[in-house]
Amino acid sequence: MNAQTLCGVRILGTGSAAPEGRLTNADFEKMLDTSDEWIVQRTGIRERRVLDLDKGNGLTLAHEALQNAIDAAGIQGSEIDLVICATVTSVMTCPSTAARVAAEVGATGAAAFDVGAACSGFVYAINLADSIVRAGRAKTVAVIGVDAMTSIIDYADRTCSILFGDAAGAVILRADPNPELGCIYQHMGADGSGWHALYIPRYEKDIPACDSENKTRLGCLRMNGKEVFKFAVTKFREVIEDALAKTNLQPADISQFVCHQSNIRIIDAARERIGLDPSQVYVNIDKYGNSSAGSVPLCLDQLWRAGKITPGKPFVLVAFGGGLTWASSVWRI
Ligand code: COA
Repeated sequence: MNAQTLCGVRILGTGSAAPEGRLTNADFEKMLDTSDEWIVQRTGIRERRVLDLDKGNGLTLAHEALQNAIDAAGIQGSEIDLVICATVTSVMTCPSTAARVAAEVGATGAAAFDVGAACSGFVYAINLADSIVRAGRAKTVAVIGVDAMTSIIDYADRTCSILFGDAAGAVILRADPNPELGCIYQHMGADGSGWHALYIPRYEKDIPACDSENKTRLGCLRMNGKEVFKFAVTKFREVIEDALAKTNLQPADISQFVCHQSNIRIIDAARERIGLDPSQVYVNIDKYGNSSAGSVPLCLDQLWRAGKITPGKPFVLVAFGGGLTWASSVWRI
């Protein structure tokens, strides 16, 4: 397409994928000094999906989610001209997951790249995709969020390991003549000064003095739970309030707040503070845990297929995570 084409963006279809394997709180009780009661009370999580790494990885999950989205959209992979994949668990740093998945679905020749914004990754990626389509630089875009978190978890770390699971979600976007459709407001931010609250060091020398007591294995996710909790509760509320204020919308005008699933207490705190109805805030953390960049698109696909995202009311995507990063995206379909 030519640049400067003022257009809107239509969601043609969504898809998701989660492994069959489940790791329940009862399984953790056998592995670690923890209890189902502690985990449910502090996080709301009852089980998470876990890849069998001999049979699959983030790439296979991303492929399955994207193929489901392509089928739902009723298009051919060859019609896609850009693939953006949000992930922090790409099988290799090079090539990107996006390039390999594009080839798997027949989108050979499409531009493809990964976005690394941790749990905010999918919202960053869909914001970027919407902007590229509106600018006329691409017509049909696949946006994927995927993380194989269990491949970077130290299962001796009881605070971190109980939180995470594996999942992927995907969306197919296409340019539409109606400029009212698509992302009507977006915000993205980062504060790298808080990076050491959530990070994956490769070498000993990457570990800052403030985290030297942490015994988590190299190459695995390290987290300061309290720091992240404080940041998330504040930022979650701020991001939602900003999105509502900037669009002149009231909470009741929104069909669904599709929120990153990190901890039920974080979601509930923001929901209560802003006065959102529980039916407007989808929760699946009990069954999937936190799947990082997979979390928001997995929720979106489940809501989309359940008919909960409707043309009558906008919906809002909200996420925060490592970086530290945060992002929102308000959509009209
Ligand atoms: N089972 C039992 N006890 C545990 C435990 C577990 N799985 N994990 C930690 N504990 C213990 C701690 O060792 C501590 O014991 P102590 O008081 O004897 O030292 C106690 O529980 C309280 O620990 P604390 O870290 O204060 O718990 P918390 O209420 O902050 O909950 C988290 C811990 C991780 C659940 C919480 O901090 C959190 O959710 N943070 C945000 C994490 C997140 O969202 N990360 C991803 C962002 S995208």
